[in-house]
Parts: sequence; C-alpha cells; structure tokens
Amino acid sequence: MATFKAPKGTYDLIPPVSVKYLAVREAISAPLRNSGYGYIETPGFEDVGLFARGVGESTDIVSKEMYAFETKGGDQLALRPEGTASVLRAALEASLHKQGNLPVKLWYSGSYYRYERPQKGRYRHFSQVGAEAIGAEDPALDAELIILADQAYRSLGLRDFRILLNSLGDKECRPVYREALQGFLRGLDLDEETVRRAEINPLRVLDDKRPDVQKQLVGAPVLRDYLCDACKAYHEEVRALITAAGVAFEDDEKLVRGLDYYTRTTFEFVHDGLGSQSAVGGGGRYDGLSEMIGGPALPSVGWALGVDRTVLALEAEGVELDIPASTSVFAVALGEEARRVLFGKVTELRKAGVAADFSFGGKGLKGAMKDANRSGARFAVVAGERDLAEGLVQLKDMESGEQSAVALAELIDTVKARLA
Ligand code: HAM
Repeated sequence: MATFKAPKGTYDLIPPVSVKYLAVREAISAPLRNSGYGYIETPGFEDVGLFARGVGESTDIVSKEMYAFETKGGDQLALRPEGTASVLRAALEASLHKQGNLPVKLWYSGSYYRYERPQKGRYRHFSQVGAEAIGAEDPALDAELIILADQAYRSLGLRDFRILLNSLGDKECRPVYREALQGFLRGLDLDEETVRRAEINPLRVLDDKRPDVQKQLVGAPVLRDYLCDACKAYHEEVRALITAAGVAFEDDEKLVRGLDYYTRTTFEFVHDGLGSQSAVGGGGRYDGLSEMIGGPALPSVGWALGVDRTVLALEAEGVELDIPASTSVFAVALGEEARRVLFGKVTELRKAGVAADFSFGGKGLKGAMKDANRSGARFAVVAGERDLAEGLVQLKDMESGEQSAVALAELIDTVKARLA
C-alpha cells in the first residue's frame, strides 16, 4: 500500500486516460490558435489582492474557496482560482494594450485551485483552457468567442450541450436593477445568510437552488426590463451574430455567474449528461475589471472551458475520440547483438519522425511481442542473431499478421513508405 495518496478533491491523469485530456486541450485551443489568439502563461499563484479585487471579496470563490497563504517572506499569495484576473494583470504589466492594435487576444491552458466540497465534476484542482480578448467593445468579439467554443465542443463530437446567454447590463443600468431587486428581496422570508447576500450581491440570490427560495423569487424584477438602450442594442447584436453563424443558444435571464466582474454579455455552456455540475464552460464580458485592478478602461470578454468536465461530458455521451496509436513501430530484439543493432535503428526511426519503441528489459520473444501488441504499433521489427548475420530483419504487419524479411539497410525507408 502506498503511503501517500493524491490530496482530497484531486486525481491523477494517467495513461491511457490522460491522452483524452491532451486531446481535449488540443481541440479547445485549435480554434483559438486559428483565430488570432496568442498563447499566454502566468504563474500558478498571485498576490491574493488580485483575486479579492478582481473576482470579488463577496464571491464564494474568494471568501470560501481560495487557497490563500503567507510565504516565509511575508507575501500574501493565493493559488489561482481562475485565469481572467491573472491574464489581465499580465497584459497590463507587459503593456500589451499599448503595443499594438486592440483587442489583445490571448489563450491559456492550466491548473486552477478551489477549496470546494468535492464531488463528481467538482474538484479542488482542475484544468481549464481559456481565452480573453482585451480592450475592445464590439459585439462581434463576444460572438466570436461563443462561436469558437461551440466549434471546439463540436470538433470533439459533443452534441448534448446547450449555450445559455444573458446580459447583466452595465454600470448605468445594473445599479438601478440592483436596487429594485434588493427592494423585492427585503420583502421575502429568507435566512440570515441569504439576507446578507441580498445586501452584498443580490443577483446571486437569484441563483439560489433551494426550492423554497425559488418559490419566493417568482415575480422578482428581471434584469431584462431594466437594461439601458445601449446594453439592449449590444445584446441584440450579439444574439444576431451568433444566430447568423448557425449557433443555437437559449436566453436565460436567470444566468448569474459566480464571479463579480461581469458586465453585459454572460454565457454558460451546460451539458445535460453531467448531473449537478453541468457547466462545462462559462464566460462573458468584463468591461470594468481592468479599472478594478488599477488599470485603464479596457472593455474585454472571455471564457474558460473546464477540461475535466469536458472529458466527463464525452464519457456521458459515449464519444470515443479518434486518437491514433502513439507508437508506429515496435522493435523486438532477440540476443545481445540484435539489441545493439535494433536500438540503433529505433533511434534512427525516431530521428526520421517515426514514432518507435523498443522491447526493454531483455524479454523473450513471447513477452516482447505482447509488449508490441499493447503498444498499438502498426509494425513490429523482429531480429535475432541469424537474421542479422544475413543483414535482415523481420517486419511484421500487426494488422494483417503478414511478415516479410527486409534488408536492415532498407528498414527505415521501407517502414516510412509502408506507413505513408
Ligand atoms: P468559471 O465558470 O468559474 O469561470 O469556470 C469555468 C469552467 O471551469 C466551469 O464551467 C467548469 O467547467 C470549470 N470548473 C470551475 N470550477 C471547477 C471545479 N471545482 N472542478 C472542475 N471544474 C471546474 C471562470 O473561471 C472565468 N475565469 C471564465 C472567464 C474567462 N470569464 C471571462 N473570461
């Protein structure tokens, strides 16, 4: 029994399943790389104040779920619970917004940490691939991101997901709505904590899943009725552009996100096969975040898609990813001299761009052929002393079972030709 285990709420990615995570990251990032987004990587931890100010002091993410700590040097840091605040911080620090044309479009992929109550689909360590388009107020940018996420999920073969869309208004109209909602909430019979939440962040109360709360919320003022003309027009344009792209979505006026920085467009991608942790991704516009963290006004929009939940969604739909075998040629050497020669050939194959592996550990023919099978290789190259004495190796097609002798000197070219 091992002494140590992965910490609660975490799990290891190990072969053969880990290859799915790589494929998901690749599939999500491909449309971004194809659309002018540049890769950015930021540290796994930041000044705790960045998240307190950016994500919001009153959010669960900051108040309950953050891994915050003091270093030996006295710095107050936190493991990043999300990527947006970090990416914007990095862009401001490097003055990316001054160097070229706006928007600055960035994508990222990495680990995030939230001290949540673990359950299926909800972990303390999870991974996201995200995109942020910084410094432009343009409904086409919001539409672009939603369309690219849709494309990413579809390229993986996912079908049972839905896009929920809403507008949270801006600094003109949201405060008016907020006050109206607070007035309504004050008249309800709510527990102490919810009353407190209604004062700090009333929109979050709309998100309360408890039936007795939901029942009381019937008739609550809806944000849509309070949107100012500019927000309304902006939202209509986003909807029109997504519709024209053939991407289906649902208007969800109850959609409130768990982070405070959102303005106007917000959206979530939910998968119906996942139970309670159904959000496979989410995002929206955050026009005020830059100023909240000390930068200039930089209206921006972005999303993050959860890699763990996307893999669960693939499993829920029974989608098998078409992942090619990682090894094309497996070399089986019988005897010392054959080991030396074939090991050299494996190195040559690899240099020639052919994925090759070798039967390590001095196994006999039977055991080594088992390894060759397990590797998924298309060809096995088998050689013993007698073959080598004649300058030959046996090339076995693992699909058809056919085997033929090939001159050692021609092995690389033959394999390349037959794989092509
Ligand atoms: P978020 O909705 O908090 O948004 O997270 C995005 C996605 O990360 C979720 O939809 C979910 O798939 C995944 N996720 C979040 N928490 C967990 C967890 N504990 N376990 C497993 N998966 C999880 C953000 O993080 C924003 N930064 C998105 C954004 C980017 N908004 C603008 N730009």
